[in-house]
Amino acid sequence: AGSGKFFVGGNWKCNGTKDSISKLVSDLNSAKLEDDVDVVVAPPYIYIDQVKSSLTDRIEISAQNSWVGKGGAFTGEISAEQLIDIGCNWVILGHSERRHVIGEDDQFIGKKAAYALDQNLKVIACIGEKLDEREAGKTFDVCFQQMKAFSDYVTSWTNVVVAYEPVWAIGTGKVATPQQAQEVHAAVRGWLKENISPEVASTTRIIYGGSVNGSNCLELAKQEDIDGFLVGGASLKGPEFATIINSAT
Ligand code: G3P
Repeated sequence: AGSGKFFVGGNWKCNGTKDSISKLVSDLNSAKLEDDVDVVVAPPYIYIDQVKSSLTDRIEISAQNSWVGKGGAFTGEISAEQLIDIGCNWVILGHSERRHVIGEDDQFIGKKAAYALDQNLKVIACIGEKLDEREAGKTFDVCFQQMKAFSDYVTSWTNVVVAYEPVWAIGTGKVATPQQAQEVHAAVRGWLKENISPEVASTTRIIYGGSVNGSNCLELAKQEDIDGFLVGGASLKGPEFATIINSAT
């Protein structure tokens, strides 16, 4: 771990029911969490209110997406203003499932980030290469291009956490090795230094996501440029998520 306070996010994706979420919330409420870690969970939109009213204030709430601009006639969308209205102060943008399953492109995601930040949402900005891109030696190119698209729209990085999530490691049980992750994190920090500023490079948290669990988190957390995690599957289990939160070194 290197820059700033350790950050652990739980991305629940499209999972959960009122009952399973109430159990997860009660497990999180009774978990012993280290003080020096920012913790955020991202329930599906429709459960945010339930989580907000039952979860300890120690843990902040994130949405998994938000609309690109002001609300209005956009069927099925949720605006940044509405998220703020219900007490949600983070949003995950550019997740690989939104990029590759739903088809959002770099520009659309960059605009979403700028709009969300303008409304005072903090942003978890996701980047990451697909397996064929890694195998073709294009990992840095892809990550830098995604970073560039964010930077084309975002004017202040203060409220941004960057999440590196190699697509081949997401939900596959195939975690990046600590060395593979560290290599990309260091490169992304270098990109920030060169293209934004040395200050932004040293203060922006770069977190890792992709099959993080209670057993592999400690080795990953030791890496110099890994400042936390974005956790999918393992964040649905309260005790295991607590172990990951407490892996800060
Ligand atoms: O955003 C978190 C993520 O995509 C990783 O998911 O299930 O591999 O931890 P998972």
